[in-house]
Amino acid sequence: MPNRREVIAGAAGLPLLGLARRAGAAAAPILRAAPERVRLAPEAYPETEVWAYNGQVPGQTLRYEQGQVLEVRLENALPEQDSTIHWHGLRLPNEMDGVPGLTQAPVRPGEGFDYRFALRDAGTFWYHPHAHSVEQISRGLAGVLVVDEPEAARPDVDGDEVLVLDDWRMASDAVIRDDFGAWHDMSHAGRLGNYVTVNARPEYRRKVAQGERLRLRLVNTATARIFTLRFRGMRVWLAALDGMPLEAPGEIEEVVIAPAQRADILVDLLAEPGEEALIASVERDGTYALAGFEVTGPGGVARDAPAALVPNDMPLLELEGARAVPLVMEGGAMRGLPEGAVWRGNKMEMRALAEAGQFWAFNGMAGMGEAPLVDAFLGETIRIPMTNRTAFSHAMHLHGMHFREVMNDGSLGPWRDTLRVAPGEVREIAFVAETPGDWMFHCHMPSHQMSGMMNWIRVS
Ligand code: C2O
Ligand code: CU
Repeated sequence: MPNRREVIAGAAGLPLLGLARRAGAAAAPILRAAPERVRLAPEAYPETEVWAYNGQVPGQTLRYEQGQVLEVRLENALPEQDSTIHWHGLRLPNEMDGVPGLTQAPVRPGEGFDYRFALRDAGTFWYHPHAHSVEQISRGLAGVLVVDEPEAARPDVDGDEVLVLDDWRMASDAVIRDDFGAWHDMSHAGRLGNYVTVNARPEYRRKVAQGERLRLRLVNTATARIFTLRFRGMRVWLAALDGMPLEAPGEIEEVVIAPAQRADILVDLLAEPGEEALIASVERDGTYALAGFEVTGPGGVARDAPAALVPNDMPLLELEGARAVPLVMEGGAMRGLPEGAVWRGNKMEMRALAEAGQFWAFNGMAGMGEAPLVDAFLGETIRIPMTNRTAFSHAMHLHGMHFREVMNDGSLGPWRDTLRVAPGEVREIAFVAETPGDWMFHCHMPSHQMSGMMNWIRVS
């Protein structure tokens, strides 16, 4: 019996092969958010009830070519929760940004919303709900959006793969724990899981020929875990961060990927035939393989270092004359909020804030206020030095516009949309307010976001 999740294979001219389509040909492809049972844990365990787009975790990788128009209808079939889709890292019109109450009305259960916008940038992006984010992302609602460079501009690789890094907090019967509002997670390092997956499996595996070069798109969809990855049996170049190509790929031995960040790496598989090349995650209690590449013969030829990916068309960012808006991050366990932080317009004592589930503040304010953190005019360049006075790392994400880090020597770092700020650090970002609208600026550990670490920036 055909149903709404029926997979359409081989339909010519569809940029979104495999996405469900409604009956009646011209309708937009659908992402339907609904509960589903999938196999997450090893065979000895039961299947896990997740929330999934079109029945899959992670949601299927949407793949388009740069310049195409993305057209997707969200259908909310979740039990009793509003939802939306935020297209993370995309430069798009504000009304397509998917933030309920700021850029669109929440999508009620049983309702839908049509997203439609042109894909300006090639790169690795992702999509996730922006409502009840701790719960909805932790239950499995997230997927990758790859925008390919035009054919002639693609790097010369033997394979192009998406690796979604995630973790799940599960009980011993493989059920996702429903402690989404736990104060401990909110006030400490966020909702860390206890079961790490790559593409929802315990490990990614692939057979390769020696000497093959792969483009691997690493995406961290976890709500709190910061991955530190190391490599064995391969030469690795970092080619892009958060979707945006680096000026020149740099050879690396390690890469740190905070929640919501992406890293595109180009890897040459150099392990001997019969051996395994590995990507491993460095954790507190050891180093664990996340991806294994079984190398077969015959031996390939060593290649030259890869060329840079073709850059996207970014605005000219000049610091001279830019306006600085400092951001001080406070709160959380070990430090606590200063007395008299403001929440919803009221000065409150720490205890009352905690009772309201608020543990963090930006510039003395927990959560969103009536006025934006920055009111920028279109085309203005804004610098935000961020001081992390908390005892935890945060992954600061700006919607709609990429920024560059202002380094200590005044030079500019790579274009990014999410920056990790470790405890005690001062890190400064700068961006051009290039698209009008109201844009979220928040910590991408949703437990922190919901408990105070979110604000917004107006461009008009
Ligand atoms: Cu992935 Cu508000 O963001
Ligand atoms: Cu945080």
